[in-house]
Amino acid sequence: MSSTLYSLHVDLPSGGIDRSYPIVIGHGVLGDGEGFAELLGDSPVVLVSNDTVAPLYMSRVRDALGKGRKVTEVILPDGEDQKHLESANQIWQKALEDHHERRSVFIALGGGVIGDLTGYSAACFLRGVDFIQLPTTLLAQVDSSVGGKTGVNHPLGKNMIGAFHQPRAVLIDLDSLKTLPDREFAAGVAEIIKYGCIWEPDFYHWLLQNSDALLTRNNDVLAEAIHRSCGIKAAVVAQDEREGGLRAILNFGHTFAHAIEHVMGYGVWLHGEAVACGMVMAAKISAARGQVSEDMVTGLISFLEAFGLPVEPPPAMSAEVFLNAMAGDKKVLRGKIRYVLLERLGCACLVEDVTTEEINQILMK
Ligand code: NAD
Ligand code: GLY
Repeated sequence: MSSTLYSLHVDLPSGGIDRSYPIVIGHGVLGDGEGFAELLGDSPVVLVSNDTVAPLYMSRVRDALGKGRKVTEVILPDGEDQKHLESANQIWQKALEDHHERRSVFIALGGGVIGDLTGYSAACFLRGVDFIQLPTTLLAQVDSSVGGKTGVNHPLGKNMIGAFHQPRAVLIDLDSLKTLPDREFAAGVAEIIKYGCIWEPDFYHWLLQNSDALLTRNNDVLAEAIHRSCGIKAAVVAQDEREGGLRAILNFGHTFAHAIEHVMGYGVWLHGEAVACGMVMAAKISAARGQVSEDMVTGLISFLEAFGLPVEPPPAMSAEVFLNAMAGDKKVLRGKIRYVLLERLGCACLVEDVTTEEINQILMK
């Protein structure tokens, strides 16, 4: 049995065709045969997952897709280090061998790695087929599955090859979080509090008040946190699908985070862990500029620490190390590093004038 708790839409400027799509949040969604039938009609499917998630959820989805449907399964090895063009090639190879066509739909069952990879594979296959996101990590449910950024890593940089390709639907099954390890869960929480910081002070305060319930994965609190996060991401993406401006605020904490991930080696810190630390750094600079209160920074730190998230960068990372690493980031524009700071709680701003001195100051605090 499936039950939908929330349903919302990502409304996109039409460009002649309706590209808006639903985000459904509920229990039992992965096994909802009627839901899939409504979305897919009789379309053939390429179902992509990895060898951690597939044993847990693949058969449930397979059954829900129905016996009469052509389904090609692709199960890749788990890991960020598999998010490369050769994995996309494996998906294309299987899809071609099974004679998939333009009306075929790719389905991503897994975390952000599988979502980004499957979305990119769909964007390129036969010059573009539809895909559906079935995100099974908290991070993927509140962030990567929504908004149409797809891609793979290149030896010279993370997410450097990609395409904007919006999914046909995002179906979030809260039940899938039951098997998610604590560390991965916490990484998703970091992205959730980000939305409160940059967009909605009420949500920020609500999260601080409900942190104990969130920590124990209370169903109602978790569902509401995911719903409110997706709502904010949908609103931002609807206004700026291709990151011409506003969407960059979603990178709050990410400039510092990417530097940490790059210097430490990808996977040593989870992305959400690096984002947690990066948000604290950005909040501290905002506080030093008098834009948010010291209390706000303290509250953010306590919240993140309760989930075991790091709030300080690795000791080896000096301001110079940060600046060198950040200079190679995608967020560099005309040679200048762009930072997302808080103009006030709930309102983010993009700046380029953060000085080495300011970074030194917060590293000493
Ligand atoms: P991930 O996909 O590697 O998943 C984390 C781990 O959890 C993996 O080992 C995975 O197999 C496992 N897992 C997934 N679901 C599970 C479940 N229900 N139960 C047990 N284990 C489960 O990592 P992630 O944090 O989901 O995503 C990170 C990726 O997302 C990065 O590649 C990042 O670049 C990308 N990303 C993309 C966007 C975007 O807008 N497209 C945004 C943020 C992050
Ligand atoms: N995760 C940032 C974005 O989707 O723009």
